[in-house]
Amino acid sequence: MRVFVTGGAGFIGSHTLVQLMRKGADVLSYDNYCNSSPEALSRVKRLAQSDLAIVEGDICDPGALERAMGDFKPDAVIHFAGLKAVGESAEKPLTYYKNNIAGSIALLEVMNKIGCSKIVFSSSATVYDPDKPFPFTEDTPLKAASTYGRTKHFIEDIIRDWSAATPGSSAAVLRYFNPVGAHASGDIGEDPVGIPNNLLPYISRVAQGSLKELQVFGDCYDTADGTGARDYIHVEDLAGAHLAALEYIAGAKGCETFNIGTGTATTVLAMIRAFEAATEQSVPYRITGPRAGDVSTTVANPSKAEQVLGWKAEHDIEAMCRSVWNWQVRNPNGYRTPE
Ligand code: NAD
Ligand code: UFG
Repeated sequence: MRVFVTGGAGFIGSHTLVQLMRKGADVLSYDNYCNSSPEALSRVKRLAQSDLAIVEGDICDPGALERAMGDFKPDAVIHFAGLKAVGESAEKPLTYYKNNIAGSIALLEVMNKIGCSKIVFSSSATVYDPDKPFPFTEDTPLKAASTYGRTKHFIEDIIRDWSAATPGSSAAVLRYFNPVGAHASGDIGEDPVGIPNNLLPYISRVAQGSLKELQVFGDCYDTADGTGARDYIHVEDLAGAHLAALEYIAGAKGCETFNIGTGTATTVLAMIRAFEAATEQSVPYRITGPRAGDVSTTVANPSKAEQVLGWKAEHDIEAMCRSVWNWQVRNPNGYRTPE
């Protein structure tokens, strides 16, 4: 199978590439490296012990996309490329709408031109209305609370409409919950620029000593210990969900949506304890007020993915923590660490 992967050098893209290449797929990574490093792709090749095609390009550049896709002639596309920082999306809404939505439209137009009608799209649990009861099923009403989340909601609708209008098309929209972890080798992982926004990268910098303490954003939520609870999913499991989705769209028609999570919520304090136990490092923390825009709990009902895709998450919180720490220790400066 020939798979065109946008955003292949990113956190989730790189882990998915390794699994795809190990399964023998012919893969092209199309990325402008606005939030990643080409070094990730060198490591992907080494881990997969095989080669991949690499094109540096922007999804908002239809000419470059058409050249890359026209030459490669993919059977399917996995569309990871997008901007993903919730806070930044409030400051730069037009940048987010243009990059994520206009970029996705350009991608679908080029797919039409070259005759490729199968796509797996990276959506997010942020599309759900946080006030609805959890666990969220795919039918839980949507109401994104951020500009970023709205870009995902709009792209989902665009893909659904495109699919309805495109005979023979097939799309899988994957709503990821909280992706964390790193490849077991410690050679690829999440490499946020500057001070991390997300919990596990922040915890691992505190354990490393480069950040002093974790601020726990609020302890008055309606959860087991009052701190925010999330459905953390290991990036290796998430990568596997893309392989299952590709297999599914190869034989299906229309557009289907799937929650990709574990079905289990972990609080911030439970995550700190799990990280300390898994890594034998201490994680100093201080409880502060809640972070603007945060919700109490998000957790998936992932049973549709299990029933339809035959996919189920396997890694537990301990494995997530251990792999993050292994990546951090081996790469104290992320992809900027000399090997
Ligand atoms: P990431 O930033 O590590 O990877 C995204 C990749 O897309 C990067 O390599 C970036 O350089 C590239 N990119 C961005 N805009 C581009 C453009 N215009 N043209 C070409 N390449 C471009 O992010 P990730 O965590 O790997 O996320 C992948 C996808 O999954 C994103 O669409 C993200 O919104 C979505 N998602 C991520 C999370 C999460 O917590 N990591 C949760 C839900 C959904
Ligand atoms: N948290 C802290 N301190 C920190 C960072 C986070 O206490 O320094 C807490 C948050 O308040 C929350 C939990 O840890 O309760 C998880 O926070 P993250 O920032 O790791 O994750 P979010 O659930 O806020 O958001 C993430 C991604 C979004 C994505 C969403 C759902 O950042 O892009 O998951 O997929 F949309």
